[in-house]
Amino acid sequence: MNILSVEHLSKTYGKGDAATRALDDVSFSVEAGEFVAIVGSSGSGKSTLLHLIGGVDRPGSGTVRVQGEDIFSRTDEQLAVFRRREVGLVYQFYNLIPVLDVVENMTLPVQMDGRRVNVDRLNYLLRALGLNGREHHLPNQLSGGQQQRVAIGRALMNAPAIVLADEPTGNLDSKNSADIMGLLRRSNKELGQTLIVITHDEDIALTADRVIAIEDGRIARDERRRQAGARSTELGRGSRFSGAVSTGAHAGTRFAAGTRNKAEEVR
Ligand SMILES: Nc1ncnc2c1ncn2[C@@H]1O[C@H](COP(=O)(O)OP(=O)(O)O)[C@@H](O)[C@H]1O
Ligand SMILES: [Mg+2]
Repeated sequence: MNILSVEHLSKTYGKGDAATRALDDVSFSVEAGEFVAIVGSSGSGKSTLLHLIGGVDRPGSGTVRVQGEDIFSRTDEQLAVFRRREVGLVYQFYNLIPVLDVVENMTLPVQMDGRRVNVDRLNYLLRALGLNGREHHLPNQLSGGQQQRVAIGRALMNAPAIVLADEPTGNLDSKNSADIMGLLRRSNKELGQTLIVITHDEDIALTADRVIAIEDGRIARDERRRQAGARSTELGRGSRFSGAVSTGAHAGTRFAAGTRNKAEEVR
């Protein structure tokens, strides 16, 4: 079943001479439970795409369907409810509320929805994210990596069907990065969550079910590497999670046969 379907999505920022076509007729579908990596150079439109899928911005044209429903046919208020309940978005630059502490930031979407905070889940996430002892720190009292982990905790707090993460390990060292990806993938597997991760990290892209490369606002490549959820032990053990160094040749062999220079392309 397709949980997500992106159809002819385009987005232009600005007008006239200053206009930037950030997304240009992008279409693809994602099956429930899939783990998709989105790769591409800086400025290629990756964040724009993720923000549209997450309903934080509206497109110039095209549609995003989640569970078959066109999210942009909703009012702004309905779209806000969609963002709180159906997706978990980890922003590239965190977007934490400066005057709220770690726990308040993580539980804000749940509170705004007027629901009770699941304390067991909160404690599980604080522990898994290495934020124990930091519960009442404000964002400016945390390192960049810690802020990134709070943003991830906020996105996972209500166990959304779709997790959208924009370079979630961009500010983390390799140990923390491996832990965070482990948490996201456990969540993907155990809760059947659909996981869409923008990454510059070749090793992360190599562990995804599918890699979509964006160039100049268009899909340059869309490669399904294995069925959703069917992670081979070889791939599970591979990559930086075991400390292995991925050379270009080594990484290239992990892509589907017949493809070349993929290690270059996923950067
Ligand atoms: N709010 C904005 N206003 C104007 N231009 C923007 C805005 N956001 C992004 N852009 C431009 O759109 C293009 C795609 O940006 P973005 O989606 O952030 O790319 P990526 O995440 O791949 O680095 C870039 O040229 C960027 O400068
Ligand atoms: Mg970006």
